[in-house]
Amino acid sequence: MAIIVDQGKNIFTLHTKNSTYQMKVDELGFLLHTYYGSRIDNTDMSYLIYNMDRGFSGNPYEIGGKDRSYSLDTLPQEYSCFGTGDYRISALRIKNGDGSRGVQLYYDKYILNKGKYSIPDLPAVYADDDESETLEIILKDPYSHVEVHLYYGVLEKNDIITRAVKVVNKGSEKIVVEKAASLSLDWISQDFDWITFYGRHNMERIPQRSAINHGIQAIGSVRGTSSHHYNPFAILCEKGADETKGQCFGISFVYSGEFLMEVEKDQVNQTRLVCGIHPDNFEWNLLPGEEFNSPEAIMTYSPHGFGQLSRNLHETIREHICRGEWKHKRRPVLVNNWEATYFNFTGDQLVEIAKDAAKLGVELFVLDDGWFGKRDNDNSGLGDWYPNEEKLGCSLKELAERILDTGVEFGIWFEPEAISEDSNLYREHPEWVVRIPGRPPALSRNQLVLDFSRKDVQDYIIERMSDILSEVPITYVKWDFNRSICDKFSNELGPEYQGEFAHRYVLGLYRVLEELTTKFPHILFEGCSGGGGRFDPGMLYYTPHIWCSDNTDPIARLTIQYGTSFGYPVSTVGAHVSTVPNHQTRRVTPFSTRAYVAMSGIFGYQLDISKMTEEEKDDIRKQIEIYKNRYDLIQNGHYYRLLPPTSDMCTVWEIAAKDGKEAIITAVYHNVEANPAPVMVQVQGLNESGSYQLELDTVFWEDKLDEKVKNWLLSKLPYGYGEGELISGAALMKGGLVIPPAFQEYQAWQIIIKQC
Ligand code: DGJ
Repeated sequence: MAIIVDQGKNIFTLHTKNSTYQMKVDELGFLLHTYYGSRIDNTDMSYLIYNMDRGFSGNPYEIGGKDRSYSLDTLPQEYSCFGTGDYRISALRIKNGDGSRGVQLYYDKYILNKGKYSIPDLPAVYADDDESETLEIILKDPYSHVEVHLYYGVLEKNDIITRAVKVVNKGSEKIVVEKAASLSLDWISQDFDWITFYGRHNMERIPQRSAINHGIQAIGSVRGTSSHHYNPFAILCEKGADETKGQCFGISFVYSGEFLMEVEKDQVNQTRLVCGIHPDNFEWNLLPGEEFNSPEAIMTYSPHGFGQLSRNLHETIREHICRGEWKHKRRPVLVNNWEATYFNFTGDQLVEIAKDAAKLGVELFVLDDGWFGKRDNDNSGLGDWYPNEEKLGCSLKELAERILDTGVEFGIWFEPEAISEDSNLYREHPEWVVRIPGRPPALSRNQLVLDFSRKDVQDYIIERMSDILSEVPITYVKWDFNRSICDKFSNELGPEYQGEFAHRYVLGLYRVLEELTTKFPHILFEGCSGGGGRFDPGMLYYTPHIWCSDNTDPIARLTIQYGTSFGYPVSTVGAHVSTVPNHQTRRVTPFSTRAYVAMSGIFGYQLDISKMTEEEKDDIRKQIEIYKNRYDLIQNGHYYRLLPPTSDMCTVWEIAAKDGKEAIITAVYHNVEANPAPVMVQVQGLNESGSYQLELDTVFWEDKLDEKVKNWLLSKLPYGYGEGELISGAALMKGGLVIPPAFQEYQAWQIIIKQC
């Protein structure tokens, strides 16, 4: 049993493999949070709570006169409420029928179930009944009759606890939910740092570690999507925590819209974290009897640093978020024409790229933006999802068939949520656009947003896309969205309901995705929002991988993919090899470096293969072969960050088989020095008693280097790389591994470690 209820003492204890989470109903009926941390068996952790009379921290009416040390302002709460004496950040804010903003929740009852709860119309972690348990705790406000259901899903083996909330109006007047966080988490006393992931278009998910100081710190998005700018994921950790040691807590929000993650250190050094839908653009009306369901938040705990925390999330996202036929199926190696042609292509040109690609082992051709309507640049055409046959030189079906004849599958790009002013759809349905009446809407990439909160818009898109997907032999869809949303307003909602728009938009998006993925289960959907602008577990529920960034420069990607790896597995990261000089940074890097970096993701190409030299084509053939051979290990292995991109010389990461018998180390020199100091890493995840052979991938340079450089390099190879030079797992993990030196700028190595 992962969930233990002590009915006598009203204690709820949730156990996972390495963690314990505990709540207790106190003598007044408030649900207190007593513990989250390393696993502890059968202890009432409320002994840690220490009350004192603190000025200006008031007392609930029912206790006030008797005990001034009892205050909701200092007690650890399970679900913090606004307006009734807890002055810290709150999880729940309700505007009552009389206009007041006060809510106070008392314990009512609990329900225990096998299996994992689901949430109506929202993505959530799923698990079989033998892998998970659900605890539902019901709290009530006896004055306003607001009822709150707290849901806890426990995946014991994964070290995962999920949370979601339902608010029900049991009263007789309309209420407005102004904030209903999915999670509120109090730590009695800890000195924490937190790591958040900030960024921008072309540079997403850069880790930032800061101390949790007194006051409130927050990350979030009011952009309609989860955003490039802050990922809905954070790690709270003790001060000395690093990749392999220290307690840390991961919070990941399963939502693709506006979010807020706040953290506060209070007057007595306690820490509170609250995570949920961003309240700035949110107001949900509840008439008597109506209910509101929050999205889900995932919590994970690692007593052994960030590495383990990431691996908990990797496994959970891979196995319990991603769904459908493509969950475990090998995703095809693709070539996408975006960086090869941008808008400037003909059908014949595309077929030429596909022909050459097919010969080299590419399995899928993806036709990106520009195939429909009047779309020769990004100023027009969005919304007109009718193929431009003149440009393609034939119908889309015929083009797809020509591509299939070359030996690859056919995939296609859509941006269903967007609309250009210069489009037939806009001319026919100006009321379908998101804008505030009487106010000119802000343009971004010269485009507007379709009102996905409207059912007629959702139905239209489902129908239009379904027609194309049924008629044309398409096995892959790239779902893009290239702007943030502002001027939030829907013509379908009355004035009091405009606060529901942002969330209704996300619900609409999820409905369309659910319908299309159900209707076309064989199609692999890739998420994208100008690269990684909506890279979150909510999208991964529908699209098992996401184009990680529009920045394809492998050196920039070191940081982007490193940051992404904290919360997301390799199998969710779309990564492509592109040409040099790189289109985003103008950097020139070796071909093999571009391939090795992209191989730590869902691999593909974004260049014009038909224009490449025979030598380059030969390299592509080798790269694809290597990737396919290593696919299972790369996509399903345990991921370890060995040296970060902020280190002096080299970024190094490892993917090890779950049984520890094999591992791939990838090392990329982001800096070259004369007379360099050796780069050393401690390998992880091997079997201590095993003997290992190291193998250096030399396939990309062996026949290209001149003899002098080759001999220099071979003479500099550290011990272990020669034939018969076996090293024990213990030595590699405790002593370390020397990475061979670089012989050129941005040199990358892939080292295979195999148990013999
Ligand atoms: C942004 C995407 O991230 C790119 O890969 C490409 O599809 C363009 N949009 C097309 O407009």
